[in-house]
Amino acid sequence: MTGRIPEDTIREIRERSDIVEVVSSYLPLKRSGANHQGLCPFHGEKTPSFNVNATRQIFHCFGCGVGGNVFSFLMRMEGLTFPEAVRRLGERVGISIEEETLSPAEQQRREDHERLTRVNEVACDFYHQVLLDDKEGAAGRRYLRERGYDGETARIFRLGFAPGRWEALAEHLAQKGFDPRWARELGLIRPGKDGRGDYDLFRNRLLFPILDLHDKVVAFGGRVLDDSLPKYINSSESPIYHKGRILYGLARAREEMRRSDEVIVVEGYFDQLALHRAGFANAVATCGTALTDEHGRLLQRYAKKVLLLFDQDNAGRKATFRAMEVLLPLGLSVAVVGLDAGEDPDSFLRKAGTEAFIGRLREAQPVIEVYMDAVLTAHGDGIEGRARAAEEIMARLRLVPSEIERSLYLQSLARRTGLDPGLLQQRIARSVPVPAVQSPRSAPQPPVPQRRSAPVMSKEVKAQELLLRLMLEDDGIRAEVAVEGVASLFFDPDRQAIADQLLDRARDGEKFAESELFDRLNEEQKAIFSGILVKDEKAFAEERQRIVQDCRQTVLKETLKRRVRDLDEQIRRAEQSGDLQQLAACQIERLNVCRELKK
Ligand code: UTP
Ligand code: MN
Repeated sequence: MTGRIPEDTIREIRERSDIVEVVSSYLPLKRSGANHQGLCPFHGEKTPSFNVNATRQIFHCFGCGVGGNVFSFLMRMEGLTFPEAVRRLGERVGISIEEETLSPAEQQRREDHERLTRVNEVACDFYHQVLLDDKEGAAGRRYLRERGYDGETARIFRLGFAPGRWEALAEHLAQKGFDPRWARELGLIRPGKDGRGDYDLFRNRLLFPILDLHDKVVAFGGRVLDDSLPKYINSSESPIYHKGRILYGLARAREEMRRSDEVIVVEGYFDQLALHRAGFANAVATCGTALTDEHGRLLQRYAKKVLLLFDQDNAGRKATFRAMEVLLPLGLSVAVVGLDAGEDPDSFLRKAGTEAFIGRLREAQPVIEVYMDAVLTAHGDGIEGRARAAEEIMARLRLVPSEIERSLYLQSLARRTGLDPGLLQQRIARSVPVPAVQSPRSAPQPPVPQRRSAPVMSKEVKAQELLLRLMLEDDGIRAEVAVEGVASLFFDPDRQAIADQLLDRARDGEKFAESELFDRLNEEQKAIFSGILVKDEKAFAEERQRIVQDCRQTVLKETLKRRVRDLDEQIRRAEQSGDLQQLAACQIERLNVCRELKK
């Protein structure tokens, strides 16, 4: 949506903004020592652990661990991308971002989008008015009433009704002077055969407009009023509508999602309507498509916990486990809400009522547990079955980024299969992928850091953080690190990435603000770095060399430990294949490495 914003402009906007002022426009802050404090807007809390530091222009929450600079704050608070946050702040401080940075192709694309959106808006108004008070809308009104919804719902959701005529919309748009090519591109009308005029896609259907995050209509879903098929038809994909990127009802639900930190994901339009009416404003619908990565990242902008509430049939179960594979790697906590067979949220709420529904929400089970049940049942009780089930389950457990959670699930798996927990732990430890360092500029959204409460910091981690702090203050240390290489001083990939960025930024010798670095870090790294800055600990001059030495030692130790784990694996394989020579060689090396480690 935006052209590249020049670095200088970004810097100017950052320099003219004051993070304390920006944050204060969202929540009250109180001065406390070097920091301003308030209740964290990103997680529920009663005592303030959200800190804003004016000198460094950063924020950090000791409760949930999030942190960053003024852009990071707006991204998270408003669910913006980096360029959007820069623009928003630019407006605030009166720096307009040159539109000339747009290429002609980009300019064209935007104009096309605006035109397409405009046509959808006009169509939406047309259908809506038909449903509200046109005689052609009587059947739609009756249908909606029979399902228990009134005009109020129709208005809130901008529902519509498409008359049964072939050219109702085509004619309406022509009257308004729209070139038919735009409505064709949206799939709303199609050219007739043999020189006949365009005809409408939606006829005799109740319409659900699908809105994007700016409340603009990007598509429609339309339901028949009887049992004929297809039950629903939807607008085709278009330059403004990609079904893998849109969640029905998200714009309306996000406020409550952010507040409760939870989202309920359902399948159907009517389910979303039903939940909303029953007071569950944090519901969105996938509209029958499988949940995509992009959907997952959208959800992650606003909530940490996802409640999956799909239909209680085979397709629904498949959709649930597919969603699990998308959501777990994002660090979201995922639970499954069970309803009775054949029910969906809309029908359940109608039959059983809100209280019963709340009960079901409360009984939601972690998705991994549900998955374990399903896989273990499918493979049966035999030895082979249990082994195969365990493998399948472990493949999914690897998606859980939190080590603690993973280990809890492993224990549960061990209990249920009778397998040795140590063995499971070992097998999974070897193959857990290290999360890739992502560039936040291209990443559409900040994932929420995994950590929710302040972890106990090992002295190894502490040394690395002190070293990062020293690197900020001391050119000499920075030069030393550059010569030695970050990889030999930082074993932890996130802290290593921060050090890399620091060196990179400092290379040209010009002065830079710490807060600048955040734009190059991912969410986990932002959290770590803001934590370091906000604490403002000082290292004494005489400790410097000791800190460097501690870091060096840690990397050595970690490398040796990794080697031991590799050797254990090789030993296991040699034992299995009966390769005695290899076995002996590995065992000797293992002894040596362990001896080294002790030193
Ligand atoms: P369902 O078949 O579960 O319908 O499809 P529903 O939402 O419960 O609708 P009602 O209550 O019978 O009216 C779930 C979702 O899948 C999409 C729609 O978005 C629907 O809401 N779908 C379904 C289609 O796109 N096309 C179809 O033919 C069926
Ligand atoms: Mn339904």
